Amino acid sequence: MKRVAIKEIIKNPETVGLGNKLCVKGWVRTKRGNNSIAFIALNDGSIVHSIQIVCDLGKFDPTVVSQITTGSCLCVTGTLVASQGKGQAVEIQSDTIEIYGTADVETYPLQKKGHSMEFLREIAHLRPRANFFGCVLRLRHAMAFAIHQYFNNRGYFYMHTPLITGSDAEGAGAMFGVTTLDLNNLPKTDDGKVDYSKDFFGKPTCLTVSGQLEGELGALALGGIYTFGPTFRAENSNTPRHLAEFWMIEPEVAFFDIHDNMDMAEEFIKYLVNYALENSFDDIQFLNDMFDKELIDRLRSVVLNDFMRLTYTEAIDILMQSKQKFEYKVEWGVDLQSEHERYLVEQHFHKPVILTDYPKNIKAFYMKQNEDGKTVRAMDILFPKIGEIIGGSEREADYAKLYARVQELGIPEKDVWWYLETRKFGSAPHAGFGLGFERLMLFVTGMSNIRDVIPFPRTPQNAEF
Ligand code: 4AD
Ligand code: MG
Repeated sequence: MKRVAIKEIIKNPETVGLGNKLCVKGWVRTKRGNNSIAFIALNDGSIVHSIQIVCDLGKFDPTVVSQITTGSCLCVTGTLVASQGKGQAVEIQSDTIEIYGTADVETYPLQKKGHSMEFLREIAHLRPRANFFGCVLRLRHAMAFAIHQYFNNRGYFYMHTPLITGSDAEGAGAMFGVTTLDLNNLPKTDDGKVDYSKDFFGKPTCLTVSGQLEGELGALALGGIYTFGPTFRAENSNTPRHLAEFWMIEPEVAFFDIHDNMDMAEEFIKYLVNYALENSFDDIQFLNDMFDKELIDRLRSVVLNDFMRLTYTEAIDILMQSKQKFEYKVEWGVDLQSEHERYLVEQHFHKPVILTDYPKNIKAFYMKQNEDGKTVRAMDILFPKIGEIIGGSEREADYAKLYARVQELGIPEKDVWWYLETRKFGSAPHAGFGLGFERLMLFVTGMSNIRDVIPFPRTPQNAEF
């Protein structure tokens, strides 16, 4: 008999057909009952809900039934019937049950409900079986799909930028080195330095912190591109919002100025959140009910309201005039901390905020310089509960200005000569931004720790799985 996905049965019981025989396969969430009847909640991951399997114990071998425990995997055939109990519309009156895999009651870690998030992280190999994490994984898929759909519908091309890079131009944080040299026996040059000419690429290389610089090369040929891939940052920031390996979406668009860039970023996030509400509501509802009672309201409010747009300088004024005690001092020129960003969003404006025109000294070399000589055309989007979710800018398109900035910051020309050439040959105004995929996932799921929205989080001292 062909397997039917539990999602099909729960969403379209009339198509599956009451009274029809069917087969379902999945993992036992709970089993309860008495000497004559057992109720098994079976989940196959296609949807957060489980289907109720009713077993008339008189029909089954008691030794088989006793092996059905939380976590075991079953193949069940039976008849779809209207449920007599509360909590579900339909259930399956079982005819046969085959146990694919048992799960020992004493040692199966997910035997009981209500484990802490910390504990679940330690069992990342089994965490996908926890209901909340199933929601997270399904939502990750939905968001990844919607991201491609958004750009594809608008004529942008998905560009694959390298993960191994020979340049550290972005300055976004410490990088992970990539080498095949034997660290216990490094080849040395005459002056005692590591001889990278003997390394795989003949030079030092790292894992990328961003695909932007290569993305710009694509935008200045195809008009609009986006990247969507993993990025790596070896910054030692053990916070609920930082990963050492995270995914980033980076659109880059020729002929866009910073206003076009802000408009697209705002429309893009609203599209994604709306997509989640329309296509993944069961998962969101579950997370709302179990973890974060304001999740649905927060998601709806982001879709419905315009983001607040103001300059960094205006934001600094607001923060300095606020009566709020901050751990980090606020003055013009400082990089905003998460506490400042969240004050602006959560206490002052009560909606997402786009800050622009940051001091050039706290931003990357490639951002377009403003007339004032102090600020650049940067834009950061700040979100409730998260802080920065997007960072981007209009890019400096003028060769002389960009070159002067590269010199001023002491960036080795041998690292960026190829990037500078785009401004020499057919330069064009252009802009782009980077959305941190896991920051988006934090927002969409309402989770409070970034380790709970990626299957295998990479953080300092942690790469077990
Ligand atoms: O602001 P960032 O560093 O910008 C860039 O990398 C630019 N190249 C983007 C561009 O203009 N194309 O990073 C972009 C976003 C941040 O806003 C944040 O959402 C996320 O990436 N991010 C992180 N997410 C998780 N863990 C980390 N360690 C992150 N660092 C940045
Ligand atoms: Mg940033």
